[in-house]
Parts: sequence; structure tokens; C-alpha cells
Amino acid sequence: MSQKIALVTGGTGGLGTYICRTLATAGFNVVAGYNSGGNHDKAKAWQAEQKEAGFDIKVAYGDVTSAESCAQCIATVEEVAGGPVDVLINNAGITRDGQFKKMSWEQWDEVMSANLDSMFHMTRLVINPMIEKGWGRIINISSVNAQKGQFGQCNYSAAKAGIHGFTKALAQEVAAKGVTVNTVSPGYVMTPMVAKIAEEVQAKICKTIPVGRFGTPEEIGRMVTFLAEQDSGYITGADMSINGGLHMH
Ligand code: CAA
Repeated sequence: MSQKIALVTGGTGGLGTYICRTLATAGFNVVAGYNSGGNHDKAKAWQAEQKEAGFDIKVAYGDVTSAESCAQCIATVEEVAGGPVDVLINNAGITRDGQFKKMSWEQWDEVMSANLDSMFHMTRLVINPMIEKGWGRIINISSVNAQKGQFGQCNYSAAKAGIHGFTKALAQEVAAKGVTVNTVSPGYVMTPMVAKIAEEVQAKICKTIPVGRFGTPEEIGRMVTFLAEQDSGYITGADMSINGGLHMH
């Protein structure tokens, strides 16, 4: 079977890097979507780093908050990877934490655009080719904080919960066409996003995790890759929790 093409949005970031690496190890032809504020040199340096570590990963620029930029990103993916996207991982996301009583519209809007609208733009571009081909995988990265809510994250919890609603609806629409749609909901994983939380708050959160530690990005990469595989075709509309027991439901 020919190598499947996987696009990971936010692919050069904290979780994205390890999702890309795990997919590459499993034999996927991987493209990391990046924004990096338009810093193409940073993305090239990231790519060189991956190469040095033994991972051959392509890169494609795209601002996931813009439909036009997403279309350009998909065109670049097709060019650098040599075909249409078989596996889309909607991983790009941001936080703008703060209590709701002090939250600005910008904090709300930026999080909605980057975490939720992005999924519309990207998925809309790949879904019809997947249906026509009769095979596809959409994997949406949500969060434990969508499932349980989180003090200081009304915007993020809402956007991430929206992701799973989308997953369940789309999964029903495309199940008969060979396309699966799933959510992965990580807990607290040691990435730059979590490192941004004040240290004393991090320590408090860590104490509430039954496994007793933050997760690793490799642990998330393993789950994403599992869902992307050929053999996972019977898993659809699911929400896979990887949170060290922080939230059980
Ligand atoms: N529950 C209830 N009350 C809380 C609370 C909690 N979890 N956390 C703080 N409070 C209370 C404090 O006790 C304090 O009360 P008093 O005013 O009565 O003393 C009040 O809220 C203010 O607390 P802070 O000093 O923390 O408020 P702040 O405005 O400076 O900071 C915040 C607010 C930025 C949201 C900060 O609390 C914070 O960073 N919290 C963590 C948010 C978080 O978990 N973000 C996850 C980011 S990583 C991620 O999102 C990845 C993923 O998917 C998991």
C-alpha cells in the first residue's frame, strides 16, 4: 500500500512535534503545518532539527484562522508530499487564560479562531477528497479541560468542547465512506503551553493528577498514530482521554 500522507496542524509545536515524529516512525509521509508568525526560517530550522534526529518531515505554511491561508497550506502539502491529505490532525491551538469576569473579547475570539474555526477551515478542504477516495482519518486534538472545565479557561474549554461535538456529528456523516473522525483529549502534558502556567499553579495541578506527573508529548503521539492506522477503522466518533486519571467519566 502506498504511503499515507498525514498533515499535522501546529506540527512544529510542543505536542505537534511528537505527533509528527510518531507518525513518521510508523511510516506515514508527514507534513507539519506551521504558522510561527510567518517565520519561515524558524520552521526550516525545526525541520533541520528533526532531520538530524532521524525524522524526515516536510513543512507547509498556513495560518489556520484564515480560510485562504488554509487553502494555500493544503496546496503546499499536495506539492511537497506528492498527493492529497489522507490523515488530518487538527492540533493547532492556543490559550489566552484568565478569569471570565476579566476576559476580553479578544481573548475569547483569538481562542475560538485558532482552536475551533481552524478545524472548520482545514477539515472542509480535505473531507470531499477523502469521501471520493473512500478512505480518510480526521483526528481532532481537544483537552481534558473540555471534559471537566477549568478555572481560567472559559474560552478554551468552550472551544475544545466544541471540537468533540464536531467530531461526533461529522463521524456520523462520513462513517459509511471509509472516513473516521475522532477526538484525542490530552491532560496536562509538559509542553511550552503548560510551562506558561505559573509554577506554583503547575505544582497544585500536578498534585491532583492520580498518576502523579504531567504527561509526555510522545504519549499523545502514540494515541494519534494508533487512530491514524489502517486497523483503527472501527473507531469513530470517539473521545480518547489521556490524562493520567485527572478526569474519569
Ligand atoms: N478553583 C477555584 N478558585 C481558584 C482556582 C481554582 N482552580 N484557581 C484560583 N482560584 C482562586 C484563587 O484562590 C484566588 O482567590 P482569592 O482572590 O479569593 O484569593 C482567585 O481565584 C484568583 O486566583 P489567581 O491569583 O490564580 O488569579 P489570576 O487572575 O492571577 O490567574 C489564571 C488566573 C491565569 C487563570 C491562573 O489561575 C491560572 O493560570 N490557572 C491555570 C489555568 C490552566 O490550568 N490552564 C491550562 C493551560 S494548559 C492547557 O490548556 C493544555 C490543556 O489542554 C490541558
